[in-house]
Amino acid sequence: MNKTIKLGLIGFGVVGQGLYDVLNKAKGINADVYKICVKDRNKRRTIPDFHFTYDAEDIIESPEVDVVVEIINDSDEAYKIVTAALKNGKHVVTANKKMLAEHLAELVELQQKHNVSLLYEASTCGAIPIIRNLEEYYDNELLYSVCGIFNGTSNFILTKIFDENLSYGVALKQAQDLGFAETDPTSDVGGFDAKYKLCIVAAHAYGLFLNPKEVFNYGIEHLSDHDIRYAREKGFKIKLVPTAVKLNEKQVTLFVMPQFVGKDNYLYNVDNENNGVIVEAAFADKQFFYGKGAGGHPTGSAVLSDISALTYAYRYEYKKYLQEEKTSYTTDIELEIYLKYEDEKDLKNFKFNSISEKHFAPTHNYIIGTITLSDLIKAKEVLNNKTISIINTGRSIVLAKKDTVKKSLADAILK
Ligand SMILES: NC(=O)c1ccc[n+]([C@@H]2O[C@H](COP(=O)([O-])OP(=O)(O)OC[C@H]3O[C@@H](n4cnc5c(N)ncnc54)[C@H](OP(=O)(O)O)[C@@H]3O)[C@@H](O)[C@H]2O)c1
Repeated sequence: MNKTIKLGLIGFGVVGQGLYDVLNKAKGINADVYKICVKDRNKRRTIPDFHFTYDAEDIIESPEVDVVVEIINDSDEAYKIVTAALKNGKHVVTANKKMLAEHLAELVELQQKHNVSLLYEASTCGAIPIIRNLEEYYDNELLYSVCGIFNGTSNFILTKIFDENLSYGVALKQAQDLGFAETDPTSDVGGFDAKYKLCIVAAHAYGLFLNPKEVFNYGIEHLSDHDIRYAREKGFKIKLVPTAVKLNEKQVTLFVMPQFVGKDNYLYNVDNENNGVIVEAAFADKQFFYGKGAGGHPTGSAVLSDISALTYAYRYEYKKYLQEEKTSYTTDIELEIYLKYEDEKDLKNFKFNSISEKHFAPTHNYIIGTITLSDLIKAKEVLNNKTISIINTGRSIVLAKKDTVKKSLADAILK
């Protein structure tokens, strides 16, 4: 595309306004906004009314529009808009991680079928350029792992807890008052948002297109004062860490869980609403990306970068997905967790393979031991119990041995 690109923006909230600003300030990008679609006719706008439409079809159907920029806050509507735009031969730039994670395979097929491009750098870790890096830069290298802090809201809350001694409830309220957390914060504090981003990362790091429902996520909302005290005593912070690990030539595992993080971990100093990504590769070794994971201008800058990439006809090629030797996803791994519980009865749900620490007190108990991810997934129901919390110690993740003898905790305690 050498001519000026005509953009149709759908959504003019935090990201839409940020993008509009960034577009006006950026020099050298050949792009004009044709129209902006929003929902609420009565909302006051910062730019004149003639820029707006209330019907997405005015943009999707217009022969004038080359690129549909979808930045609304409703993933079901976003799916309808994005699929209609791709089918109409429009390139699409989107920031909607939930919509992408839930429909990625279908959307990729659509973009191929209609010979257009679908880009989404802003969907994962805001301004940090991680998707195109995983797709292009780590193309030929064995990627051992990708992990990090992908959710600014939960990181803000954890920072307030650790730096200012706030309780979880007060820290959440502060995040809500400052506009970092939604009224219903489940997606952020329950680890869903981080999981959607992890699924997008897995597509570009390992060529895996997964249904997010298959991936284990456990958030920060059940962390108790006991867990925080334990972490402090050991010199750790707790961070919500989505993790993807390549276990061997063929298998990758993914999960989202709180993790103890020591001072020697890059993530220790990623505080407040910031994001960080650690990529570990065979030749490049460990690399760390740090930056703003949200906000109008940072996220707008990632959208702008995608628009700019379209000026030279850039498209994700999904090379790792298309290669012959496919990678598969497994939950058959063993990891070490800290489990805090109150009621002994709950323990029968956790099948530990080994136990290295046990603590019993009148107020709470905890156990540190190894367990398989598939057994943790089986315990998902009981993990909804507010008196239970789990934290990944981060010390070891290995393929589970088939012949591992699983001890029920009752056996282990009796030993
Ligand atoms: N905020 C961030 O920092 C950030 C960072 C990374 C990714 N994202 C992603 O970017 C997207 C946008 O987030 P945001 O924070 O900018 O949301 P937001 O501030 O809540 O704004 C949403 C915008 O979408 C419009 N909208 C909603 N439904 C619509 C519909 N059916 N048709 C047309 N317009 C519609 C709203 O219209 P009205 O103005 O009329 O209400 C509003 O302008 C989301 O997918 C989000 O996950 C956000």
